[in-house]
Amino acid sequence: MADLLGNMRKTHTCGDLRKSDVGKEVVLMGWVQRRRDHGGVIFVDFRDRAGLTQIVFNPEISQSVHEKAQVIRSEFVLGVKGKVVARPDDMVNKNMDTGEVEVFVNELKILSHAQTPIFQIEDRVEASEIIRLQYRHLDLRRPQLQKNLIARHTAGRAVREYLNERGFLDIETPFLTKSTPEGARDYLVPSRVNHGCFYALPQSPQLFKQLLMISGFERYYQIVRCFRDEDLRADRQPEFTQIDMELSFVGEDDIMEITEGLIKEVFKKVRNIDIEIPFERITYQESMDRFGIDRPDMRFGLELCDVSDIVKDANFKVFASAVKNGGIVKAINAKGCGGAGGGAADSGANAGMTRKEIDELTSFAAIYKAKGLAWIKVKENEWQSPIAKFFTEDEKKALKDRLNMEVGDLVFFIADSVKITNEALGQLRNELGRRLNLIDSNVYRFVWVTHFPLLEYDETEKRYQALHHPFTAPLEEDMDKLESDPLNIRSRAYDMVLNGTEIGGGSIRIHSTELQERVFKLLGIGKEEAQEKFGFLLNALASGTPPHGGLAFGFDRLVMLLCQEDSIRDVIAFPKTQKATCLLTDAPSVPTMAQLQELSIKVSKLEE
Ligand code: AMO
Ligand code: AMP
Repeated sequence: MADLLGNMRKTHTCGDLRKSDVGKEVVLMGWVQRRRDHGGVIFVDFRDRAGLTQIVFNPEISQSVHEKAQVIRSEFVLGVKGKVVARPDDMVNKNMDTGEVEVFVNELKILSHAQTPIFQIEDRVEASEIIRLQYRHLDLRRPQLQKNLIARHTAGRAVREYLNERGFLDIETPFLTKSTPEGARDYLVPSRVNHGCFYALPQSPQLFKQLLMISGFERYYQIVRCFRDEDLRADRQPEFTQIDMELSFVGEDDIMEITEGLIKEVFKKVRNIDIEIPFERITYQESMDRFGIDRPDMRFGLELCDVSDIVKDANFKVFASAVKNGGIVKAINAKGCGGAGGGAADSGANAGMTRKEIDELTSFAAIYKAKGLAWIKVKENEWQSPIAKFFTEDEKKALKDRLNMEVGDLVFFIADSVKITNEALGQLRNELGRRLNLIDSNVYRFVWVTHFPLLEYDETEKRYQALHHPFTAPLEEDMDKLESDPLNIRSRAYDMVLNGTEIGGGSIRIHSTELQERVFKLLGIGKEEAQEKFGFLLNALASGTPPHGGLAFGFDRLVMLLCQEDSIRDVIAFPKTQKATCLLTDAPSVPTMAQLQELSIKVSKLEE
């Protein structure tokens, strides 16, 4: 085959040319974004990853090139040689970086024809995400996604530079390994040479990085893929990337300081935004009390308020019995959402939130298992509410004071177990923040959430589980509760939260065999099982272990927030769907019989 390019080589990108280049002879290579014909002259918006340049095929410049250009259509790949010409003043395009110039083409190579693309390559894409993922190679041509992936690259590079300068070593860890418990299901890989045995893909390199500390490497990092088989959502993928770090001879403050600096550097390099450090810190308990969840969005108020003590004897049975049964009643005052005026119906100019909207919020809270959503609109002379009639004057006065209820306010209540109340009202708070436009999307509010509980009780499995992972150290002052009051042990774990998203989490680790064994025991992992699953760790811990700790950032989530995207799929080149499938390659797929036989695997049920 003839060499299509011949001697032609790019001299500039499609984002380069400016007025100062006028008169130069240049070569551009790229894709046809759009073709327009005007009185015999063909104008093409010509695209590569750097931008767009207008190129012009004019029969007066070259009859033969103009003729050859007749066939070109969207997404054809061209090499063009031509002269940079200033556009007439009235033709300057201020919206284009290269809008002051155009290139008059005098040599054209059609490097590739293209089928009509299934969707137009533009930022405002009409195609569904299914089509976009099926034709990801086209989707990735869109400037938005190109910008995101370039930002991802810049972020990764900033991370490496920052950590390299501070003595961190980039060390790879295995993918074919043993289960690391991070709370999700494992992806398993069958071993051909060891029939019936499976590797687990790592949910994180947690144990390997601890072993590296024990080996004396002192500061480790890796930008590494992790695999978790869990329910997916907009900020979760089955394979995702962590900035994984571990340090020896440190405490919480050291890790927080170094990771705050890292984030500051990344925001500066990627977005030229100056982030203020150090970040605010709140304890897990404070976060739950004030926001109902452990990853609070600190960009707006609407904090939760516990009113259990006020309503515990109220005539409203739902509230009273919730408290009697060990639950709580919490409220949010949505200031100004109750509408002004008298106690009339929900009509008129300023009636506040409508019944329909309140019903929608009730359904929203129900997603998080709330059994109802009680509300009070504070009117001039009365409370408009389905529940006001149940309260005594004293109770009303106490509620009014506690919740700072003023005319025009709308207060929401949820009564349930502590867990459900916090989760449902915490999520409702975020929803209200969105609906009431209280969230400034250009603000970045970071917060550390510290002192997570070490354990939680799993009702279905009837046993304790590590909230973070089983290698997290308990807080020294809670150590005496280890056997007597396990649920009230706080841990040395911390999360970095940005605008309501957990972008990173870590902890100081257990560094003695004895304590690790006690924690395993609490988790219902007996001596034998501990030896079988984690013997290598217990052994290593006994061989001289420096105090150590670390953190892992969700790199995809961090880049998503940097790019102001709502889904991590928009910052991953080849992401998977909510059903963990790859629409581009059709993975996962059914293996051949021969492959299964080789692995001694029989499939008992096939997907339709
Ligand atoms: P953790 O499980 O908290 O900690 O994970 C660290 C960070 O990874 C991100 N993340 C995810 N991102 C996308 N898709 C997922 N499915 C997903 N799961 C987690 C989150 C989270 O904050 N080994 C410990 C870290 C440590 O202790 O050092 C760990 O993996 O942003
Ligand atoms: P009901 O007595 O069931 O008609 O409920 C009266 C009001 O209380 C309705 O607005 C319900 O949404 C609300 N409600 C019911 N259960 C709860 C609950 N557990 N927490 C908060 N509000 C509730």
